[in-house]
Amino acid sequence: MNGLPGDRMISFITSNKGKYVEARAIIDDLVQRDLGYTEIQAETLEEVAVYGMKEIMARIDGPAMLEDAGLFVTALGGFPGVYSAYVQKTIGNAGMLRLMEGISDRRASFMSVVAYVEPGLEIQMFRGMVEGQIGYEARGSAGFGYDPIFYVGDRSLAEMNLEEKNRISHRAAAMHALKEWLEAR
Ligand code: IMP
Repeated sequence: MNGLPGDRMISFITSNKGKYVEARAIIDDLVQRDLGYTEIQAETLEEVAVYGMKEIMARIDGPAMLEDAGLFVTALGGFPGVYSAYVQKTIGNAGMLRLMEGISDRRASFMSVVAYVEPGLEIQMFRGMVEGQIGYEARGSAGFGYDPIFYVGDRSLAEMNLEEKNRISHRAAAMHALKEWLEAR
């Protein structure tokens, strides 16, 4: 139940199956739609999400959401941040570990920004964050992206199952915020 008239399904606009699976474990009424949208180069995740959502709104008319996430490494001044997808695609986790060689401050966080819209509503934004560390090696095979090098406590996110990652992750926090908002109105 999402509180929508007629209980319509929410389209999660993403090509990333991993994101969908994590979100679907929290919000029941989700369908994945891989529509593709422009991911602008901007300074904040919010700008990227809002721009993408405006493009999507012109193309579909039901309830929809999309998410933009990023990894922010303290010792690198927040890099890769809004460049996270590009950095993952180019140098990957091995490259990130190389960038961190000789750096003892391993603090990092993941941020998630979710944009949600439905007919007659302004775009609603929800955020989530998880703090952790960049490890010294990649470990685990669950999840996706930076999960093998992002550690919370002594385990990487890729060493956690879906339920464990969803107890702590940036995405889960943002999805819970959206869910609460949907249920509260
Ligand atoms: P985007 O939200 O798809 O633009 O994500 C930016 C980059 O961060 C991509 O390379 C993703 O694979 C990566 N990323 C996003 N969320 C996560 C996560 O939960 N774990 C690990 N990597 C992630």
